[in-house]
Amino acid sequence: MNGHVKLGERLRNRKKFTLYDKNVIVTGASGGLGRELTLCLVKKYRCHVLGVGRNEQRLRETAELLGDAADSFRFRVADVTKREDWRSLAAEAAADGFNADVLINNAGILPRFARFGDYSEEEIEKGMDTNLQSVMYGCRAFLPLFENKQGTAIINIASADALCPLVGTSVYSAGKAAVKALSEAMREEYRCRVYIPTVCPGFIRTDIMKGQSRAVSPLVNLASMPADKAARVILRRVNVRRSQIVLGADAHFMSLAYRIAPVWSLRLFRVFMKASGLALFADIFE
Ligand SMILES: NC(=O)c1ccc[n+]([C@@H]2O[C@H](COP(=O)([O-])OP(=O)(O)OC[C@H]3O[C@@H](n4cnc5c(N)ncnc54)[C@H](OP(=O)(O)O)[C@@H]3O)[C@@H](O)[C@H]2O)c1
Repeated sequence: MNGHVKLGERLRNRKKFTLYDKNVIVTGASGGLGRELTLCLVKKYRCHVLGVGRNEQRLRETAELLGDAADSFRFRVADVTKREDWRSLAAEAAADGFNADVLINNAGILPRFARFGDYSEEEIEKGMDTNLQSVMYGCRAFLPLFENKQGTAIINIASADALCPLVGTSVYSAGKAAVKALSEAMREEYRCRVYIPTVCPGFIRTDIMKGQSRAVSPLVNLASMPADKAARVILRRVNVRRSQIVLGADAHFMSLAYRIAPVWSLRLFRVFMKASGLALFADIFE
């Protein structure tokens, strides 16, 4: 009987998920997609957001962009690659009366386009720590709090590269594919307790390319989705409990091509990238 009650409660909990009025932690709220997610969460979904990032000035700018709604935003300077920062984030948020319902693991970096053997050990570690290890730290810090609370979610931002790895992105693709696998396994483990979707966007117009050692063609920017639109679409789909959110025509195309021809699709993309002659990809084909 008890089991039935618990199951019933869990199913009601599942149906009840909505983003409106939630307390949300957004990593990488100091720029790009994380900033736009923050603005949309506060303005459209009446959420309170705790933004995380390393750059205090840019976190303050996010607050300024909220104008009159800035009261719904607070921030904390933290490095998501550090386990101790996650521990103190969870403890201090609770002590501060911020009773989190949703965690968005958004902070991430794109290592330069290069062949795997040409990365330094530091580049590989930084890529994996930021894109994968941080997500695991975040999940472990908040799952115990979310598991027995209604209407909770952990939203993990992966990438189209998790659906179809491209040449020159081995470290990024490996980290993002692992985030996707991690989220999918956890989604089943915590089914009806914590909603855990994976988001796989294609190119979004942000500063993510700034770390590249080569010039980024305006073509890449032209082909990218504006970050405010990406944030709106992601949150709309989260609000209707989609499990996997693929964003942008490029991401859908990569996903389809990989499912049809897992070997030849990669070769085809390689040929396109080489033929494009873009400086961005030069290190891969030297
Ligand atoms: N843009 C795209 O085309 C694209 C496509 C697919 C997936 N994504 C994913 O979307 C997410 C957001 O990327 P974006 O495009 O918005 O990139 P972005 O403009 O470069 O912003 C990245 C954010 O992550 C934060 N961050 C990076 N390392 C951090 C660390 N160690 N600790 C705390 N915060 C850190 C940065 O804040 P601080 O500098 O203040 O620390 C910044 O706010 C990433 O996971 C990325 O992989 C992006």
